[in-house]
Amino acid sequence: MSILIKNGHIVTASADYIANIFVEGETISAIGKDLPMSADKTIDASGKLVFPGGVDAHVHLDLPVMGTFSSDNFETGTRAALFGGTTTIIDFANQTRGETLHAAVDEWHKKAAGNALCDYGFHVSVTDFNPTTKAEIKQLIDDGITSFKTFMAYKGTLMIDDGQMMGIMDEVKKHGGIVTVHATNGDMIEALVKKHQAEGKLTPLYHYRSQPEITEIEACGRFIDMANYTGVTCLIVHMTSAGALNKVREASKRNQRVFVETCPQYLLLDASVYEKENFEGAKWVMSPPIREQKDREALWAGLNQGMIQTVGTDHCPFFMEQKRKGEDDFTKIPNGAPGIEHRIELLYSEGVRKGRISLNKFVEVISTNPAKIFGMYPRKGTLAIGADADIVIFDPEEQHTISAKTHHHNCDYSAYEGREVTGKCKTVLMRGKVAVENDEMKIEKGYGQFLKRGISSLVI
Ligand code: URP
Ligand code: ZN
Ligand code: ZN
Repeated sequence: MSILIKNGHIVTASADYIANIFVEGETISAIGKDLPMSADKTIDASGKLVFPGGVDAHVHLDLPVMGTFSSDNFETGTRAALFGGTTTIIDFANQTRGETLHAAVDEWHKKAAGNALCDYGFHVSVTDFNPTTKAEIKQLIDDGITSFKTFMAYKGTLMIDDGQMMGIMDEVKKHGGIVTVHATNGDMIEALVKKHQAEGKLTPLYHYRSQPEITEIEACGRFIDMANYTGVTCLIVHMTSAGALNKVREASKRNQRVFVETCPQYLLLDASVYEKENFEGAKWVMSPPIREQKDREALWAGLNQGMIQTVGTDHCPFFMEQKRKGEDDFTKIPNGAPGIEHRIELLYSEGVRKGRISLNKFVEVISTNPAKIFGMYPRKGTLAIGADADIVIFDPEEQHTISAKTHHHNCDYSAYEGREVTGKCKTVLMRGKVAVENDEMKIEKGYGQFLKRGISSLVI
């Protein structure tokens, strides 16, 4: 099968021009002004942006949480991702304490294989670092699982202590991988949760008040110092606050490179969502919580200045019925919200159209940088000869409104209900196949492949 995409406005992280792209099989075989080839299918992309498929390096599909599961599985979640122009995801295989890292990876392979529509990789979340798990790290890196997630919060379940953190960092550094972190101070959060419970403050608002900015600032600073000491390549996921970003800024003065991810919800929403009545605030109960206007401004600036390199979604949806488990106690609300489908359109509409970031920066943060940081570049993350033909053809003018009535998430609410956006993913190619066209899905579950990832290639 060959496809010729004609006269599109091609945008990569570093280029911007009108040309044609010729796709043969699963990859791009030519890019040029006047390509002489004829193709099985021709797509007229005049007036459209053409950019590499998105890479969302932070999603939780079919994740067991508090006796339930996140409501998108690998089929529904990757379908929604493709509708929104994301062609590669990285999920987290979470180690169960007392079990091996390989057991977690095997479990996640079972969830994904034969179900995913887009390509996928796994990070491994290390929740129990011991001689057995230490010995597994090299093998996992050789198997293409090169990133190791750690938690400084979720005390009693996922959280590790600083000794374990140092051990993971040493071992991952030895074998060339990257350590990522959920950086908030679990002890401080636990104390604040207990205080609020004792005072009978149990609404979703107190989820927010139990995780103030200082809990993130402290943990980010500690993580950065440990990464500096061990020399490991590191990334802080879902950064939410100006204060935490200042810790990264300080580290840059000693020439330490700390990669940072933020998410659309932290760029676009503010903590007033937690003031909503009738338990509605539960829709945005996620960790860390959404913060203030000053934080949003700092995060946009951080993106634009290159201090934040990537935008993931932390997609972790639950139906309201699942959220209601915490109706009488915010600590029982499953943490997370839907978003995998809207990352690219939101970033374009709110970032590029509103002059906060350039078109090239947009492509960099939604695709190129996560592909580089997580060892998939240049197969993923760019439009180049030999790269996978993961391509988004995007109408930069089309206006539409986000709603749970029309989204493809398996979730009965939207975190962005009623928000108007400009720009829409019209056609999406997934490894050379038309996946999305005319608002319809054209590929079947099982098309998505596991990605054996390499070592981070983003140079300072
Ligand atoms: O609330 C969230 N973010 N849920 C997903 C797990 C995590 O901490 O990333
Ligand atoms: Zn997290
Ligand atoms: Zn997450």
